[in-house]
Amino acid sequence: MGQKYYIANFKMNKTTVDVKQYFSAFPKKPKAYKDNIIFCPPATALSYTKKLIGNKFELGAQNIHFQNKGAFTGEVSGEMLTDAGAKYVLIGHSERRIYNYESDHTINNKIKAALLNGLIPIVCIGENKNERNEERTNNILSRQINSAIEGIADLGKLIIAYEPIWAIGTGVSATIEDISQVACDIKKIINLPIIYGGSVTEQNANKIAAIPNIDGLLVGNASLDPKKFAKICNLI
Ligand code: PGA
Repeated sequence: MGQKYYIANFKMNKTTVDVKQYFSAFPKKPKAYKDNIIFCPPATALSYTKKLIGNKFELGAQNIHFQNKGAFTGEVSGEMLTDAGAKYVLIGHSERRIYNYESDHTINNKIKAALLNGLIPIVCIGENKNERNEERTNNILSRQINSAIEGIADLGKLIIAYEPIWAIGTGVSATIEDISQVACDIKKIINLPIIYGGSVTEQNANKIAAIPNIDGLLVGNASLDPKKFAKICNLI
């Protein structure tokens, strides 16, 4: 089994004061620990989080703009994220697809911008409840993957995050059988690391992370509590 990715997505939570408290309660990483623990705080706390974690853990951003600079009020570019210490970036999270109307085309451009800036894109895909009920999961995922990677030669850097929309923030994760099946189907489309997200908790984390084609977990709600997330990462 390869190294796992444990990714904390804080979403729109935590000021620098909260982040400071968080890391005072988060355990140190033992030397023998080999998995990747990545924290994705909001943009305003990126630099500060990097200062606190140093090289002990990795830093990820939650979003990126597809241009490097210019008249894009309110946006943050890949160059700025790298400057803040980020190594990874979440792209195409369903909350951004839904609330910020991000299209497959925009997501493709964002992935290109991330790669240009040396950031590792964590590309989020997932079907909604209707699509699942209508058995269109496979079609949706292959459309999302194929448009995400259009025109990208260097695919080796990408990570795919499978996050069924109906499982995000609902307290109901996909079943082990569902995740195994979907991970298998994704591997047929593209051979990249696949992580799972959607109501991961300290109770179900180990079982999900142990699924053969699953390389890690993307954790929202449960990552906000340092003890719960440390447990998910098998640090305590
Ligand atoms: P959740 O969120 O763990 O709160 O379901 C996961 C995500 O949206 O990345």
